[in-house]
Amino acid sequence: MAGPTTQEPLKTQHKCIANFALCCCFAVLVALIFSSVYIWGESEDGITEENCSNDCHIALVENIPDDLSLSVDGRAHLPLSVGFHTLLDQAKHSVEVVSPVWDLNSWDLKTTPSAAKQGQLLFQRLLSLKSRGVKLMIASSLTNSAELKTLVAHNAEVHFINMTALTRGGLRSSFWIVDRKHIYIGSADMDWRSLSKRKELGVVVYNCSCLALDLHRVFSFYWQLHERDYIPSIWSKRVTALYGKHDALELQLNATKAAAYVSTSPELFCSKDRTRDADAIYQVIQSAKTFIFISVTDYLPLVNRSFRGTSVTRYWSSIDEVIREAVVLRGVRVRLLISFWKKTHPLTFNFVTSLKSLCMQLHNCSLEVRFFSHRAHQDDIQHGLNHNKYMVTDNAVYIGNHDWVGSDFAINAGVGLVIRMNATLKDSGTTILEHLKTAFERDWGSRYAKSL
Ligand SMILES: *[C@@H]1O[C@H](CO)[C@@H](O)[C@H](O)[C@H]1NC(C)=O
Ligand SMILES: *[C@@H]1O[C@H](CO)[C@@H](O)[C@H](O)[C@H]1NC(C)=O
Ligand SMILES: *[C@@H]1O[C@H](CO)[C@@H](O)[C@H](O)[C@H]1NC(C)=O
Ligand SMILES: *[C@@H]1O[C@H](CO)[C@@H](O)[C@H](O)[C@H]1NC(C)=O
Ligand SMILES: *[C@@H]1O[C@H](CO)[C@@H](O)[C@H](O)[C@H]1NC(C)=O
Ligand SMILES: *[C@@H]1O[C@H](CO)[C@@H](O)[C@H](O)[C@H]1NC(C)=O
Ligand SMILES: *[C@@H]1O[C@H](CO)[C@@H](O)[C@H](O)[C@H]1NC(C)=O
Repeated sequence: MAGPTTQEPLKTQHKCIANFALCCCFAVLVALIFSSVYIWGESEDGITEENCSNDCHIALVENIPDDLSLSVDGRAHLPLSVGFHTLLDQAKHSVEVVSPVWDLNSWDLKTTPSAAKQGQLLFQRLLSLKSRGVKLMIASSLTNSAELKTLVAHNAEVHFINMTALTRGGLRSSFWIVDRKHIYIGSADMDWRSLSKRKELGVVVYNCSCLALDLHRVFSFYWQLHERDYIPSIWSKRVTALYGKHDALELQLNATKAAAYVSTSPELFCSKDRTRDADAIYQVIQSAKTFIFISVTDYLPLVNRSFRGTSVTRYWSSIDEVIREAVVLRGVRVRLLISFWKKTHPLTFNFVTSLKSLCMQLHNCSLEVRFFSHRAHQDDIQHGLNHNKYMVTDNAVYIGNHDWVGSDFAINAGVGLVIRMNATLKDSGTTILEHLKTAFERDWGSRYAKSL
């Protein structure tokens, strides 16, 4: 009977030790959570959402390949490479970049050297940031990029996002934040093709720390995913969205009153209060009154979901249905400009035909679709590919990183920028909305846009 009596105190001792260890773990956890809050709280340079600047300037930036004959309005349009260089000229403290691709230096001898020159120039500018004391921070999902290694050797800091582990998708986000003041969002990424052979469109917003602060929170979110293989359930307040579809930032864009916010995808990447890309697009289409012009490389309302290890394809209705509603029930004129290229999914034509057939026998109903294609859409250089991803309506614009393919929104990371403006101000050709509409109409009326 001696056994149990000597074991009892031993047991309680074990319990004590276990409890103590548990307490320690808890304390470490709490310390970790608070330390991350603290670190991220420090990094906003004293500018807060209370005293940030919302008196901003915006410029449309485009890359129009030389061999596309599109009449370009010099006043409305800034070449993309000039936009990037202007941003780098302004940089004093930090440049934060997210790009799906890092391929600015093309070593492919088949390409003409002049075509690749702009990419090389931009890469040299990024390398030389160090000598000016400007910090370059990059979030990327690439594991073995020679260009990133070179940049790291020149003092860039790179954080790796393991998209395979997080969503099984890809990082498609493409944006810049300079000094938490100026931003770029658009279709172009850090690929020499974006500065030469591919047709790209984006915006640069200057002196706009309010918007930059919010986009920086998306960047911080990516930054914190560094080498994680899961999305934590508790996030620092420093990644909570500042603005969204219900409480957009009120700002001035070249002295025109507007409202704006940043959206993201996939849903898993939407931190607290962040509007999803698909919801942003939904809202912009829903509030259009007279017209909706959409320019995307691919349009496919399908989503691939993995179900018990196999991939199941489903109809993805959210954008498709709101377009149908706008056309049929509200009499909004819709134009859809899609690229015809080697990766065009065959079902695209079926969905587009279905959309067009909606207006049969209906008066006051207009839905038109054209395909943008240029020579040599079969090659990897993507000569003349219309890589644009935007929408403009009578009262808003949406500029994003994704094509309008269900699977993209479901698993790939991207960001979007929504700008709403009051359409009553009709002094033509002065707002970003009118500049985008002009760019769309130029492409739509060009010889490269054909209705099939
Ligand atoms: C903005 O406000 C914060 C605290 O609210 C302050 O620390 C910071 O200095 C202010 N920045 C400017 C530029 O006024
Ligand atoms: C990313 O995550 C996947 C799945 O968890 C893993 O197999 C892979 O090794 C990770 N990649 C890197 C570079 O850590
Ligand atoms: C941004 O603000 C600075 C200082 O107020 C000004 O010098 C500069 O011209 C502005 N940039 C743009 C593009 O408006
Ligand atoms: C547009 O006009 C409406 C009504 O006049 C006003 O309530 C709203 O704030 C305005 N929006 C912007 C972005 O100026
Ligand atoms: C879904 O996945 C299959 C097989 O991986 C692929 O062939 C198909 O194109 C994908 N569909 C979409 C909509 O991504
Ligand atoms: C088409 O419908 C819209 C919205 O209901 C209306 O404002 C417009 O006047 C209509 N146009 C024609 C030609 O009937
Ligand atoms: C706004 O101002 C900037 C800088 O002054 C200019 O480059 C841009 O073209 C203007 N944007 C619009 C939409 O007028």
